[in-house]
Amino acid sequence: MKNLSKASTIISKINKKRAYILKNKSSSLDFSLSENPLEKIPIGVIVGIIKNINSVNQYPLKAIQSLKKEIANQFKINIKNVGVGAGLEQVIENCFKTIVNPKDEVIIPNPSFYVFGKSAFLVGAKPRFVKPGTNFSLDLSKTAKEISCKAKLIIFSNPNNPTGQVISNKEIISLANEVAPIIVIVDEANIEFGGKSLISEKNLPKNIIILRTFSKAYGLAGLRIGICIGSPRFINAFNQISQSVPVSNLSCAAAIAGLKDKNFIKKTKEFTKKERTKLINAFKRNKIEVFPSQANNILINTDYTKFKKFLDKNNVGFIDASCFRDIPKGCFRVSIRTKEKNKKLVTLLQNYKK
Ligand SMILES: Cc1ncc(COP(=O)(O)O)c(C=O)c1O
Repeated sequence: MKNLSKASTIISKINKKRAYILKNKSSSLDFSLSENPLEKIPIGVIVGIIKNINSVNQYPLKAIQSLKKEIANQFKINIKNVGVGAGLEQVIENCFKTIVNPKDEVIIPNPSFYVFGKSAFLVGAKPRFVKPGTNFSLDLSKTAKEISCKAKLIIFSNPNNPTGQVISNKEIISLANEVAPIIVIVDEANIEFGGKSLISEKNLPKNIIILRTFSKAYGLAGLRIGICIGSPRFINAFNQISQSVPVSNLSCAAAIAGLKDKNFIKKTKEFTKKERTKLINAFKRNKIEVFPSQANNILINTDYTKFKKFLDKNNVGFIDASCFRDIPKGCFRVSIRTKEKNKKLVTLLQNYKK
C-alpha cells in the first residue's frame, strides 16, 4: 500500500524474521512464546475480574490508581515511583519516548529482546548493539566501554531473553554507577523465574529504571499490563508521554488479585525449575548443546536443518533463535510449558537423531 511510513516498511522487514514463531504458534506442541507454564488462572484473579465486570462502562482512572497503590504496597515503594502501560512492550516504547531524542544513541547488549531495537528506531535514535560474551551472556564491561557523548540509555533484560541467564544485581549497580547520569533500564519481565529483583535493593542508583510485567509468572499475558519503576521525576514525564488511561478496569482488578497471590508465583517458580531440569537433561541426552539458564527460556544449539525437520514433522513450535542479533543459525529458544507438554517433547526427543 502507498502512503505508509518508512518506519512501518522497515519494521515489517524486522518482523518477517520472526515469521517462524508465528507460523508455529498453531503447533499442537508450542514452546515458542513464554507465558505462565502452569497455564492456569489463579481463582483470586477470576473472582477479581467477575467482581469488577460492571465497571467496564467506566474509564479506569480509579482502577489504575488502585493498581499503582497495590504495586507500591507489595514492592514496598512509593506510589510516585510507579508507572503502568498496556503490556511491557508499550511501557518500553513509552520509556524510549520519555528519555531519548532523535539522533541519541541507545546501547543494547546482545542478545536482546527485539522491542529494544525497534523502540530505538521508532524514536529516531541510533542503537549500538554490543556483542555477547561467552555462552551468549550479556557483556556489561564491554557495554560500559561503548558509551559515547551521544549515549542516553542502556537497556537489557535480566534474566535475559532468549538465554534465561541472570546477571547479579551487584554487576548491574556497578554499571549504573559507572555510566551515570546515563539511564540504565533493566527489563525484569522474567525475574520471578530466576534471579533477584533490583526493586528490593537498598540505595539503588537514581539512573536505574526497572520494568516488570504481569504477562509471565502472573499468568496474565492476555490482559496486557506492564510496569515501570523509576524516580518520581521520570514517572511524571512517563505519564505525560503515555496514553491517558492505558490499562483497563478488568486488567487492573486481575493484576491486584495476582499481586496478592504470592503462592501462585512461588508454585510457578518451583515448577519451572523442576521442568527446566527435565528438558535440559533430555536435550543433553540427545547431544544437543544447552546454554546455562536460570529462568523460563532455554537456548539450545544443534544441526539447524535436521532439528527444523524434526520440529516440523512433529508439529512442535520452537523459536528460531537466529532471529535474535548475534545468535547463529542452529540455535533455538524453548520456553517451558505444562508438565504434559514437556513430557511429550521429552518422548519425541527420544526419536531425534542428531
Ligand atoms: C524481556 C521481555 N520484555 C518484555 C516482554 C513483553 O511483555 P508484555 O507481554 O508485557 O508486553 C517480553 C515478552 O516476551 C520479554 O521477554
